[in-house]
Amino acid sequence: MNRKYRKTIIAGNWKMNKTPSEAKALIDELKAKIGRQKWCEVVLCVPFVDIPAAIRAARDAKIAIAAQNMHYENAGAFTGEISAGMLKELGVKYVIIGHSERRQYFAETDKTVNLKVKTALETGLRPIICVGETLEQRESGIMEQIITAQVKTALLDVPAEQMRKVVFAYEPVWAIGTGKTATAEQAAEVCGLIRAVIRAKCGARVARSVTIQYGGSMNAGNANELLAQLDVDGGLIGGASLKADEFTAIVNAANQ
Ligand code: PGA
Repeated sequence: MNRKYRKTIIAGNWKMNKTPSEAKALIDELKAKIGRQKWCEVVLCVPFVDIPAAIRAARDAKIAIAAQNMHYENAGAFTGEISAGMLKELGVKYVIIGHSERRQYFAETDKTVNLKVKTALETGLRPIICVGETLEQRESGIMEQIITAQVKTALLDVPAEQMRKVVFAYEPVWAIGTGKTATAEQAAEVCGLIRAVIRAKCGARVARSVTIQYGGSMNAGNANELLAQLDVDGGLIGGASLKADEFTAIVNAANQ
C-alpha cells in the first residue's frame, strides 16, 4: 500500500453466492463487525439480483456495492445481459471487468474487456479490471508478455484523465479458488509491472495514483504480508469474503 498516492480498496467478490436475503444478512453482520475504516474503501461485488437489497443494507455504512460484470452496449437485443446504465441507476459504484472466470467460461477477451472498460467509464462506473496469467503461461516464461498485453489492450483509447477512476486487480489464474496464494514478492512484482505499463502509457503522475489490487486465495492469514508491499493497494477476495470474520480481518489489515 502507498496511502500517500492512492486509495487502498478491499473488495469482496461473492461470485454466484448468496440470495438477496442472505446478502442482507451478511451485510448486516459485516456492518456490526467492520468499524469506521480510516484508510481503506470497502466494496462488495454481489450478484446482479442482490444489488437492490445490498444497496439498502449498506446504505448507512461506508460500504460500496459493485457488480461482477456488465455488457458493453448501452441497450439492445442482448437477451440476458445487463447494461452499465441499469447498474448506475441502482447506485452501483464499481464493476468487475474481465474476471478470469468470465474469460474462461464466457469467452471474454482482452478486446471485450476494453469495450466494457470504456462503457463503464462513460457511464460513471469505476471498472475493476482483472488481469492474470495461467500456470502454463507462468511456467513457460511468458507471464510478463501476457500481463503487458492484457493491460495495454484493456486501456486502448482510455483517456489519461479517466485513469483515476480505473482499478486493476492482479489475479493469477492458478491462485484463484485454489488455496495457492502468490508470494508477496510475486504479487509485488506483477502489480509493479502493471503500474509500469500504465506509466509508459499515461505518465508517472497518473500511474502512481491507480489502485492495483491482488486477488487469489487472499485471506486473514496472508493479507498483512501482501498489503505490506508498496505496489499492492488492496485485495479482490473471493472465498474469504463470504465469511464475515475473515473478511473483517482483511479489512482491518488494510487499516493498520
Ligand atoms: P479467491 O477468489 O479469493 O476465492 O481465490 C478471488 C477472485 O476470484 O476474485
